[in-house]
Amino acid sequence: MKNKSSLKILVVSILTLSMFLGCVGEDETGLKPYQDPNLPVEGRVKDLLKRMTLDEKIGQMWQASPDLVRTYNNFDEEKARKLVIGYGVGSFLSIAGEDTQKLQKIAVEETRLGIPILFGIDAIHGHALYNGSTIFPMPLALSSSWNPGLIEKTASATAKEVASTGVKWTFSPILDVARDPRWGRIIEGFGEDPYLVSQLGAAKVRGYQGSDLSSQDSILACGKHLAAYSETTGGRDYSPADISERTLMEMFLPPFKEAVNVGVGSIMTSFNEINGVPSTANTDLVRNILKDEWEFDGLVVSDYASVRMLYDTHYVAEDLEDAARCAVEAGVDMEMVSEAYMEHLERLVIDGVVPEKLIDDATGRILKTKFLLGLFENPYGSLDPSVINSRQHRNLALEAAEQSIVLLKNEGILPLKDARSIAVIGPLADDPSNQLGGWTGDQPAENVVTVLDGIKNNAPQRTKVRYSKGCDVLGEFDNIKKATRIARRSDVAIVVVGELENMSSEPNCRVSLNLPGNQGELVRAIHHTGTPVVVVLINGRPLTINWIAENIPAVVEAWFPGQEGGNAVAELLFGKINPSGKLTMTFPKSVGQIPLHYNHYPQKNWDHGKYGKRYVDIEDEPLFPFGYGLSYTKFDYGNLKIIPSKIDKKGEIRISLDVKNVGKIRGDETVQLYLNDVVSSVTTPSKELKGFKKITLNSGEKKNVKFTLTPNELSLVDRSMEWVVEPGIFEVMIGSSSEDLRLKGSFEIIE
Ligand code: BGC
Repeated sequence: MKNKSSLKILVVSILTLSMFLGCVGEDETGLKPYQDPNLPVEGRVKDLLKRMTLDEKIGQMWQASPDLVRTYNNFDEEKARKLVIGYGVGSFLSIAGEDTQKLQKIAVEETRLGIPILFGIDAIHGHALYNGSTIFPMPLALSSSWNPGLIEKTASATAKEVASTGVKWTFSPILDVARDPRWGRIIEGFGEDPYLVSQLGAAKVRGYQGSDLSSQDSILACGKHLAAYSETTGGRDYSPADISERTLMEMFLPPFKEAVNVGVGSIMTSFNEINGVPSTANTDLVRNILKDEWEFDGLVVSDYASVRMLYDTHYVAEDLEDAARCAVEAGVDMEMVSEAYMEHLERLVIDGVVPEKLIDDATGRILKTKFLLGLFENPYGSLDPSVINSRQHRNLALEAAEQSIVLLKNEGILPLKDARSIAVIGPLADDPSNQLGGWTGDQPAENVVTVLDGIKNNAPQRTKVRYSKGCDVLGEFDNIKKATRIARRSDVAIVVVGELENMSSEPNCRVSLNLPGNQGELVRAIHHTGTPVVVVLINGRPLTINWIAENIPAVVEAWFPGQEGGNAVAELLFGKINPSGKLTMTFPKSVGQIPLHYNHYPQKNWDHGKYGKRYVDIEDEPLFPFGYGLSYTKFDYGNLKIIPSKIDKKGEIRISLDVKNVGKIRGDETVQLYLNDVVSSVTTPSKELKGFKKITLNSGEKKNVKFTLTPNELSLVDRSMEWVVEPGIFEVMIGSSSEDLRLKGSFEIIE
């Protein structure tokens, strides 16, 4: 008996091993090993690769443009067949819904090996390019929630909606640490701090991918844009990053590393160059650091035509063929949209310029991703239309907006108490399409709750609400006089101003951070009526609203708050929610101060007697600091404990403190922990965020908050460019913003 079962185990093991090695043809059901879901993915990849021609492998490495299967915007069956059967294209960009089904059917049923297509789309704040889906606040807004759990939920809701339209891949999250508010794409990311971007980016990856990539509701995440894409010149999109290796390592790579740690399935290379080397041709960055050092085993995709850019924009390749060689050598597995791989890789391999093992590695990663996503078993997606803009997702969009809004100033006029009449004024008070933010397709206006709608929905009964647009954001319309008339007749004026959607996101940058157009004049005119004013900002970047911050008694930063934004703003105005958002970007007072961020090096603090002041025409302080945001209640901090006070380099430090809500109403506080490595072999920032916790406290309630610091949080890049923990004293600063630090203590790292 014993012998029989050992024999059986032996036979099964040999079979599994041989399938793993790709040596077996078909089983008795006619299934080839790669088609058998019960076999390990590695074995299936190996088996499939063995069956593929060079052409077929290269086809997998191409993500084709949607235009190639359309004629006059309609799906063109003939073109589709040519691409899918003729070229064996592995992926399509920006196709969702019905057309995915048609293309997939051709791939699965009519191609030689039946390899399913992987469709990819930008779903950065909900499945927003798809008509009728739920639109969440833009990422920079959402980052102001400082709530990874909430961000994870929005990503998983997005995944459900995306998967329901036949798409299994999104180009999100943006992991670019953004340090220049002129840059249009800061609205797509999570702000200026590498630790915060890492934590929130990881949450988004978890939300999209879930615990099992092959689940119907999961989609593949894509961390982008590797690397330093946000380190622009003059705030201009698509510009070179001229940075030190130290800045790259300390500032820009950590969020990508963290995404890899939590299992992100794909990474996108960026458009820009770093110190002369475009990312899409950067072997050191992609192959050596990402794939070898960090052991990333997912797929690397280029950004839109960034392979072609190697020769027609950066001029580091002689022609398209040379561009294909550079990118594939660097480790870019899939080419987005341009056709260098498609046209030239075969020749390059045949001529021995590119070893076929590079093609096998790239195709293997793509196939592996498709297996992991369960595409071979379920190529068509979840196809459950009921998830699109479901009640549950709309509620989540509301919760997300509620937590994203930052109260910048309140001289006691909020929450509104006895306003019997309200003037709602401003070009963005009732403009559904300019409330959603970039990367949004056509959306039904009726799905969007504007601030005017929200005020009508939430105002106490019998409140008179009057509306006047006042002026355009940009443009000729000017009816400021009418706006002042309705302001005079009202108890309070809510003035909603800011930026148009297309003033941020790719590639829309600005040289000025002032309120555009006549909006400043509008705010001043309403203020001069004597009616108390609340300014609500809808915008994509920190703005230099110095006059407003000084003169207007209440200022609310709503960012692009998504489809439920108007309700969230109104709830905040009427005190139905207590504001809890905190800034994740420093607000400068002047464009001339840029770069201005909280985690600067200590020399900036140098006070050289009477020459201490640097700018002769402005103070060096920001308008609003990183981590800042007001609440309708107050929190006391106390009882800081740091245990142990001395530890070796590998040890962990436990920090605990109490926070008490000493105000009259329930509220959320984001407790922020900053560290200063006091003396080190290289300069380190005077404070760096290394922990945060958002807690909810009822009036009078006290909670204990705990943090653990590991070598990860304590390390620095030393002079030999290694991440190390150095002995010495670390100062701990804990508080409510980077400038409002309530508790201080220290610990020591010993050899
Ligand atoms: C952007 C990427 C985006 C891609 C596909 C590019 O222009 O830089 O962020 O994912 O287009 O839409």
